[in-house]
Amino acid sequence: METTGRTKVGANEPCWCGSGKKYKRCHRDQDADAAREGLPRRRSTPIVAGTVSPMRPVPPHIPRPDYAETGRPGPNNFPDVKDAERIARMRRACRLAAEVMAKTAAFIRPGITTDELDAICHEETIRAGAYPSPLNYRGFPKSLCTSVNEVICHGIPDSRPLEDGDIVDLDVTVYLDGMHGDTNATYCVGEVDAASRRLVEVTRQACDLGIAAVKPGGMVRDIGRAIEAHAKLHNLAVVRSYCGHGIGEVFHTRMQIPHYFDPRATVQFVPGMTFTIEPMINEGTWKDRLWNDGWTVVTGDGRRSAQFEHTVLVTETGVEVLTVTG
Ligand code: MF3
Ligand code: CO
Ligand code: CO
Repeated sequence: METTGRTKVGANEPCWCGSGKKYKRCHRDQDADAAREGLPRRRSTPIVAGTVSPMRPVPPHIPRPDYAETGRPGPNNFPDVKDAERIARMRRACRLAAEVMAKTAAFIRPGITTDELDAICHEETIRAGAYPSPLNYRGFPKSLCTSVNEVICHGIPDSRPLEDGDIVDLDVTVYLDGMHGDTNATYCVGEVDAASRRLVEVTRQACDLGIAAVKPGGMVRDIGRAIEAHAKLHNLAVVRSYCGHGIGEVFHTRMQIPHYFDPRATVQFVPGMTFTIEPMINEGTWKDRLWNDGWTVVTGDGRRSAQFEHTVLVTETGVEVLTVTG
């Protein structure tokens, strides 16, 4: 952790971190926060695209979703309410997603590249007889999404080694028994500053509060109300451009789950519904920006973002989290 050298940099001068950006567009706000709290400033430099390795092959015996060859998913008008047989298959897919997540996350440490994490996720998914759902979904080139620091979501695994002090989200989705199971979590890499640790913990709590808001008779908007209230309480912002979604035979059904309070989200919860809750929460602005790779979503101000995701089932009495191990 850097404790010295809090030299003044002009707003329009190049940032001290070497990014080449103006200071006001790079570390200025984070430095001000750290100074106010008497903490050392963060040394992490903005994320830039690394080298993406060739697409990993999937053995022919693995059953594939419709988009695996073409990159284009077919119709998504599948029912969100599932019968017992479909729910049993959802349970298996979701449990596997949670297991692959745990196995992949165990390798997180400074120095490992996100491409190496993708290889582990890919191998573990295939070893279990499943297809890694991100692979070629709308052309996504990898089997895992890895979103580091100011990357909000859909980061493409590449040659960048994780650094001490980073936070990284792993988003694992598997296709097993004809169903998709989707989960993600943010991890700290080595020694992480207090503000980032707080961001990660508040986001985990926000996801749990969103899940706890689900019960039959309630409405989709109850989820966003709970999540947004918790983020506001901690002076953090909820991403608005990306939502949770219905899931099952297809990766994303038409059902949308906003993580902010949207009074129009009046769809009622019905036992048997399966969908994801996956809040993305930012230190600074809620606004996002898309890289020209067409995938990587970053915060509008370069400050950090965290995310947690579970696939859940509405039950007769409340909710069951499906993306759990054991
Ligand atoms: N897993 C992501 C979600 O939670 C979707 C990733 S799409 C991909 O909805 F193509 F980037 F993999
Ligand atoms: Co999802
Ligand atoms: Co996901």
